[in-house]
Amino acid sequence: MREDGRTREDRRRREDLPTCGDARMGGPVVDLQLDRAHSSRIYDYFLGGRTNFLADRVAAARVLRVFPAAQTAARINRAFMHRTTRVLAAAGLRQFLDIGTGLPTSPNLHDIAQGVAPDARVVYTDNDPIVLAHAAALLRGTPEGRTAYVQADVTEPDGILTAPQLLGTLDLSRPVALSLNALMHFVTDDGEDRAHTVVEALKSALPSGSALVMTHATADFAPAAMRQITRIYADAGTVLQFRPRATFLRFFDGWELLEPGVTLSHQWRPDRPEGATRATHHVIDAEASCYAAVARKP
Ligand SMILES: C[S@@+](CC[C@H](N)C(=O)[O-])C[C@H]1O[C@@H](n2cnc3c(N)ncnc32)[C@H](O)[C@@H]1O
Repeated sequence: MREDGRTREDRRRREDLPTCGDARMGGPVVDLQLDRAHSSRIYDYFLGGRTNFLADRVAAARVLRVFPAAQTAARINRAFMHRTTRVLAAAGLRQFLDIGTGLPTSPNLHDIAQGVAPDARVVYTDNDPIVLAHAAALLRGTPEGRTAYVQADVTEPDGILTAPQLLGTLDLSRPVALSLNALMHFVTDDGEDRAHTVVEALKSALPSGSALVMTHATADFAPAAMRQITRIYADAGTVLQFRPRATFLRFFDGWELLEPGVTLSHQWRPDRPEGATRATHHVIDAEASCYAAVARKP
């Protein structure tokens, strides 16, 4: 069979890529499933990254056909992380736990946090082995700060909170900024309140002064497109659950929302050029289709 340029490039990169935990790394072989679309790599494609493969790009192209704003949505979701990290580091937070980190995309959370506070400590967590395979880029921080990576699933919060890498990096008796950006829509409730139970378990492990930063996809603004996206991800083996505003708000129960409360991701304290009265980038709510908020534990 003849290979086109991109297929050949995929094969070359597949062969170059360390198989996570393979013999070269001294652990059991983990299948990176490069022949299947994965949420981290589809998202990487939307952000213009290079760690995505044919199956990811095929799924991404299907998403773009029904939701042409997908790249905009990814970009503004990422920009929300930049702004919130800056705000929380400037407010004195020095410890960050980022779950559902995604593939390294410059600037990463620690680049921003340590740009404000060089001694900031950051623990990253993701359940996709390809993120682990690329985690080295997440571990290059300042000499004063510390970064660590935990390969784990958010649905098992105890595994994250007791991981030696986390306990060796963060002091859980001091405030932590927990970020769950574009993550919890991958946790379905299946008739139970699973997503909220998981988030409550994480919240209850953190002391007063901690922060919860979250974005979450919603079907409130573009229901037909989101229905089709659910199908496209299901075809790739990933179940999605979009949640409405009231359900998103419930993730913050008992904590105090920072101004301006629950917004769409581009509307949370947007950066404005000096002297401008309106955000220069006009994104409509349906293009963002992602709720965002930050809260502090009283
Ligand atoms: C859309 S990306 C978001 C990346 C990053 N948080 C951001 O907002 O830029 C979602 C990430 O969550 C990860 N993920 C999905 N389900 C997960 C789970 N159950 N536990 C941990 N990570 C998960 C995926 O592997 C992917 O890297």
